[in-house]
Amino acid sequence: MTSARFDKNTKKCISIAEKPGTFGVEFHNKGYALLGLNYIYFPLKVSYGELEPVIGLVRRNFHGCSVSMPHKARAAGMVDALDDSAKKTGAVNTILNQNGKLKGYNTDFYGAKTALQKTLSVKNKKVLMLGAGGAARAIGHAVKELGGKLAIANRTKNNGEMLAKALKASLIGWKDIAKEQGYLLVNATSIGMDSKSETAVSKKTVSNFYAVMDVVIPETQLIHEALRQKKIIIPGCKMAVYQAAEQFRIYAGKELPESFIRQALDSFKQQNSTRLK
Ligand SMILES: NC(=O)c1ccc[n+]([C@@H]2O[C@H](COP(=O)([O-])OP(=O)(O)OC[C@H]3O[C@@H](n4cnc5c(N)ncnc54)[C@H](OP(=O)(O)O)[C@@H]3O)[C@@H](O)[C@H]2O)c1
Repeated sequence: MTSARFDKNTKKCISIAEKPGTFGVEFHNKGYALLGLNYIYFPLKVSYGELEPVIGLVRRNFHGCSVSMPHKARAAGMVDALDDSAKKTGAVNTILNQNGKLKGYNTDFYGAKTALQKTLSVKNKKVLMLGAGGAARAIGHAVKELGGKLAIANRTKNNGEMLAKALKASLIGWKDIAKEQGYLLVNATSIGMDSKSETAVSKKTVSNFYAVMDVVIPETQLIHEALRQKKIIIPGCKMAVYQAAEQFRIYAGKELPESFIRQALDSFKQQNSTRLK
């Protein structure tokens, strides 16, 4: 991590989560150093019951606040205004403090859309997405905006039905995934997050698709298998890096160079692929 200096004019941004990670801290502080901005970004562990007082603290003391699991949906109800991305997804992962008024954004949506656009085109192509939680909402909206033909399968049928209705997507039974084929398979569940041996689908199902996207950030068995089968892949870290770049733009009002983003992606891939070796 870069060493940080600050004074009374420093703009302070925090990242709140039940289990804060280190990626955002490194990404934002390195970006501020590169562009010579008097900003600082640091993590704060916030439990479920602490969210409301912490949002009050943000209103009084902080320029920006990144919101991670499990606070994204509740944070949407605690800000003063929502950007389109947050309205669409019903979740906030980025808060900008505009003179005491808090505006919420969902840069997961932007990260998903950019990661898709930079890798392939889903226009008029069949996309099967597994999952119906917060990440699935962001990816589902991105797929629809890019013209993909979306089908959703989710373990809990009710949750899948609600998202499919909201996105005008078709619904596939969780037990029928193996029969499916198409252009892009997306794992938008948390399967593979806690255990590297856990995988959402069989090798045969992977072979039924041209490309595979996984939302889980550490490299998963699914991505490993897709690589083995020489599929086009979009790993979770690609979406994470582009969402962070958009978050940086919102806080700093400046774009990071693509070379910085590519470098962050390369080092992220290296750090996160080691668990499968
Ligand atoms: N790459 C990125 O930039 C990025 C951004 C955001 C989130 N994420 C990652 O995305 C993952 C999901 O996050 P989230 O916020 O969407 O969580 P969430 O809102 O809790 O949703 C979890 C989803 O996973 C499904 N699920 C969980 N365990 C399952 C299992 N064992 N079998 C089948 N389905 C299962 C749930 O199905 P039910 O409806 O049946 O419970 C639900 O659809 C996490 O790993 C998170 O770290 C990555």
